[in-house]
Amino acid sequence: MKKNEVVALDKLPLEWRALIDAATKARGKAHAPYSGFSVGAAVRAASGRIFAGCNVENASTGLTVCAERVAIWKAISEGERQFQALAVVTESGSMPCGACRQVLSEFAKDMPILIADTAGHVLLTSLAALYPDPFTPANLKGKPAWNIGDSGRRES
Ligand code: THU
Repeated sequence: MKKNEVVALDKLPLEWRALIDAATKARGKAHAPYSGFSVGAAVRAASGRIFAGCNVENASTGLTVCAERVAIWKAISEGERQFQALAVVTESGSMPCGACRQVLSEFAKDMPILIADTAGHVLLTSLAALYPDPFTPANLKGKPAWNIGDSGRRES
């Protein structure tokens, strides 16, 4: 399956459909009374377990947490540290925000990301495509940020 391709949900391998199903179910639990914008996300961890989350809004707007981060926090707090794939489901098939991309990059250099809408269309992309230049632990140690490797991605 090619990257940056939009495919029909029923053409995807079963394991990715399961991830999208989990994200769709979690979306149904979204607490989004202020924006009215419900998001569901699910990550498959290295153990094979799936962790799903929804966005959780707050009357104090800045405290809102995205669905992707809720899914990641759940997985991390269960002992997971590596991830194999992420699915995000919204009505329109919207993209993960920049903050969530940075959080994902803490635990995966690259992984498939499946962006699904509720009509059954899925964009297949990847973390490296969506977030090629994360802030990394190497930056904390003073490594230059312009150390670009063959991959075109800054080396950590
Ligand atoms: N939201 C997410 O859950 N994930 C994203 O990647 C972008 C935005 C949520 C936050 C808020 O509850 C609503 O969508 C509107 O911004």
